[in-house]
Amino acid sequence: MTDIRFDGKVAIVTGAGGGLGRQHALELARRGAKVVVNDLGGTLDGSGGSSDAAAKVVDEIKAAGGEALANGSSVTDDAGVARMIAAAMDAWGRIDILIANAGVLRDKSFSKMEIADFEFVLGVHLMGTVKPVKAAWEIMKAQNYGRIVVTTSSSGLYGNFGQTNYGAAKLGIVGFMNTLKIEGQKNNIHVNAIAPVAATRMTEALMPPEILKRLQPQTVTPGVVFLCSEEAPSGVILTAGGGAFAVSRIVETEGVYLGDALSVEAVRDHWSQIADQAGEAAYVTGGEQTQKFFRKMGGG
Ligand code: NAI
Repeated sequence: MTDIRFDGKVAIVTGAGGGLGRQHALELARRGAKVVVNDLGGTLDGSGGSSDAAAKVVDEIKAAGGEALANGSSVTDDAGVARMIAAAMDAWGRIDILIANAGVLRDKSFSKMEIADFEFVLGVHLMGTVKPVKAAWEIMKAQNYGRIVVTTSSSGLYGNFGQTNYGAAKLGIVGFMNTLKIEGQKNNIHVNAIAPVAATRMTEALMPPEILKRLQPQTVTPGVVFLCSEEAPSGVILTAGGGAFAVSRIVETEGVYLGDALSVEAVRDHWSQIADQAGEAAYVTGGEQTQKFFRKMGGG
């Protein structure tokens, strides 16, 4: 099998001044991509900002013989996002790859969480994914090529104490991907999600040092870079940590048709059948689920 290369391809990686995004940017550049390194350079909770973080990663890429440019815009700022896209187009004339990775945390139990912290985290993760993708979308369509990787989390997929805001944003991103993968199909635009576990400033206080040592961001990046390649699937949630990889899916049980017996009590009485995991399926479109209901209503 040949090596995966990105010669002639242009990539944008948001939040690439540190942590996971930095590794994704370095690896894409090492494999020939020209990279826009975006990072606001703020603190973990999203305050402050400077373009130094992005500039440093650009220096690293250039020192290794690659091509890159820095962008210090916030992914939530429409004018800043437009500048980021324009910088890529002015320098290299196309955008093949977009990794929406930028993120912040404002953890608190739901009781203590201010709505402002909820909206802020939703804004950075969800709208901070939507805005760059929106700005690159018509370019990718016109090229008939695009690879988009959005960043979700086990907190969104499964839950984590103190992260209602973050979890809502992260699963919102999966919902965004689920439809975008359908709309991108005819223009060869593939959209996938990564759910990483990695030792970064986001997690350094959460795990003991010996575990963190085995969870370096570069153990996640190979999965993300594969999702940026021509051979990438579409609509997949890849989970990754410490060099282990798996696929997460939203599945639905086969369920039951209650027909003439329909009642609240019938739902109660059939609960074990409704929830029975045997024959569970994952659907590619919402319409497939509706078709199942029609099949069952027909006695199937
Ligand atoms: P990190 O804090 O090292 O990296 C996030 C980067 O995004 C920072 O460099 C930050 O300056 C930048 N950023 C924040 N707000 C921005 C904005 N408005 N515009 C542009 N850049 C902005 O954290 P890490 O761990 O590398 O996170 C990367 C992504 O992976 C995030 O989306 C995070 O939610 C996600 N993630 C990380 C996990 C982990 O175990 N580290 C687990 C699950 C998801």
